[in-house]
Amino acid sequence: MGQLKLSRESWSSQTVFILAAIGSAVGLGNLWKFPYITGENGGGAFVLVYLACILLIGLPVLLSELILGRAGQANPVQAMANLAKTHNATRLWWLLGLNGVLAGALILSFYSVIAGWAVAYFISSVQGDFINMAAEQAGVSFNAMLTNPWELLLWHTIVAVLTIMIVSKGIRSGIEKAINFMMPGLFLILLVLLGYATTTGSFEQSFAFLFNPDFSKLSWQAVLIAMGHAFFTLSIGMSAMMVYGSYLDNKQSIVKAGIWIAFADTLIALLAGLVIFSIVFANGLEPGAGPGLLFQTLPVAFGQMWGGWFFGTLFFALVIMAALSSAISLIEPALSWLQQNWGIARAKAAWSLGVIIWLLGIGTVLSFSNWENVYFLGERTLFDTLDFITTNIMLPLGGLLMSVFVAWVMSAELRDQQLQLSPLWLKLFLFDLKWIAPVAIMIVFASNLVESNS
Ligand code: PFF
Ligand code: NA
Repeated sequence: MGQLKLSRESWSSQTVFILAAIGSAVGLGNLWKFPYITGENGGGAFVLVYLACILLIGLPVLLSELILGRAGQANPVQAMANLAKTHNATRLWWLLGLNGVLAGALILSFYSVIAGWAVAYFISSVQGDFINMAAEQAGVSFNAMLTNPWELLLWHTIVAVLTIMIVSKGIRSGIEKAINFMMPGLFLILLVLLGYATTTGSFEQSFAFLFNPDFSKLSWQAVLIAMGHAFFTLSIGMSAMMVYGSYLDNKQSIVKAGIWIAFADTLIALLAGLVIFSIVFANGLEPGAGPGLLFQTLPVAFGQMWGGWFFGTLFFALVIMAALSSAISLIEPALSWLQQNWGIARAKAAWSLGVIIWLLGIGTVLSFSNWENVYFLGERTLFDTLDFITTNIMLPLGGLLMSVFVAWVMSAELRDQQLQLSPLWLKLFLFDLKWIAPVAIMIVFASNLVESNS
């Protein structure tokens, strides 16, 4: 153990760690996915369930995951093996780390394709393509891009290469730098967009859509999606946060970090939703438009608003950066495992993984054109299948096992030392972690399994 510690990098400060973890959490999940799944699932009631999932399941699992990382002091596979050993538990816990390694690679394969869309839109914005663009035109040009696999492949390749270039450099010089300026920038632009949203005349309608729950619109399926998304958006259940926690030193507060991560992530998702639905309603668009929602609405806003060229260009640049700071955390579990347990040099491991992920991504690229009608799981394209298996099965399963380890297996002494909570909060936390979170996850998880077979 002592030796392992010596060879590990660590974050240069608590603030940097929080920013990197926020960088992992805040990404396409907030800006692209949250608005579109909220639109598809009827708004308010879905948002409420989602918020409950963040608070009752997401936050406790996030804290558990950070604890496991810091206590395990290694890549996820080795960290779980270490912890199982010191607790005389079954050695099979290493599989929990492996689940994360695999989920990260699978998610990254489609995440990179979607991030590629933002690259395309960044370039369009620079060229002034959005100026005075009508809502209908925005939909047409989005579809033109989507159905052109060569174009998507190009953008996907760019994102994959950028991701590998950043991670191959290592923790401090690679990851930390990008994030310092990105998070505040993204937040400021969302505020500018929020200002624009209030001028569309549909801001109130958008607000009501997000915050007036109409439970008649809530399906059981929507509850499953909300919970899966809570995992996806907080980057939990697949050991990305575990790896980040493993680079955290013992003086820093896990609880404080966790609360900041969950808060920032939720705030940014809600702001993105408010902005996007204002534009949707002002232009008579469909809230349930699906994965294209972000890309069919914002160009309209940028094309009309004052300074739209500037803000649009900056916005898509920030989306790319937000996606990159998440992408690097998606690959870090696999990368740190290959490095530490297989003795492969970081750069070499990064490029090899990059090739595998890039190849897998081609399946997602084709899901929008040539393979549009090729179904894998139920009526799901390859993209939908990968999204479903990772978000709704692998992440909840990972999160469940993590909370079980911290709640039931880990020694109370180690746990309390990691958490540093007052007795009352500790009690509440443990109650939630022992009973509420695992039971909720199990119910949802079981019905996902049933659903995936139907
Ligand atoms: N949390 C990221 C987002 O919301 O875009 C996606 C993600 C990153 C999921 C890292 C999982 C992960 F490990
Ligand atoms: Na997120």
